[in-house]
Amino acid sequence: MNDTPAPYPLEDAEKSRVVILISGTGSNMVTIAELIRDELPEAEVSAVICNEPEAAGIQKARSLGIHTDIIDHRGFTSREEFDVGLMRTIDAYDPDLIVLAGFMRILTPDFVRRYEGRMLNIHPSLLPKYQGLHTHKRALEAGDSEHGVTVHFVTEVLDDGPNVIQAVVPVLDGDDPQSLQKRVQLQEHVIYPIAVKWFIEGRLSMQKGQSCLDNKPLPPTGLKLDT
Ligand code: GAR
Repeated sequence: MNDTPAPYPLEDAEKSRVVILISGTGSNMVTIAELIRDELPEAEVSAVICNEPEAAGIQKARSLGIHTDIIDHRGFTSREEFDVGLMRTIDAYDPDLIVLAGFMRILTPDFVRRYEGRMLNIHPSLLPKYQGLHTHKRALEAGDSEHGVTVHFVTEVLDDGPNVIQAVVPVLDGDDPQSLQKRVQLQEHVIYPIAVKWFIEGRLSMQKGQSCLDNKPLPPTGLKLDT
């Protein structure tokens, strides 16, 4: 019998490893980290990686006892070089899932291909509407009666991978971008944990470019929650 102590508890070695990338406030990161801590003992957040040294989310991650890495993109001469550095940092954790939670960087194709099928993003619009920035303002300017948020798998085209889940929120009289953003963000904190839980439980996958739940393709909108 080999009684050499294991370097770390065996159960940790068996856990699904999640790495979360942030650039800012980190509210989605906190919701996901709390979900994993409280409801998914089979998973752990290995690290939170942030490209903005002053981001509020860094302290929030540390308060939750999560290891943080700061990789300031300004220290690199090109997008490609930054992404190589980022990949090195991510790969050191050998993650099963990469969660982009307000990570405000355009990713290179090499980066995206490396993690295809195991990288999720949240975007504050009903994709494919309003890819890119200022989504709340654009929805208001277009006179939309509803707006929302989407979780999707990341593919090479920005904000374009197959949808996993969407929450729809009404646009109300008198809304401005801030009030709409607040209403949308409440729903972000509902749908992102659902998608992460599905993935950790092995129910969510990307197959032939489509999001599948329990091996069945989801509709193009993803699962749609009306609020
Ligand atoms: C969220 O509203 C998320 O939808 C958005 O950044 C915010 C991050 O908030 N993401 C994008 O715009 C990606 N294109 P948080 O730091 O409080 O989670």
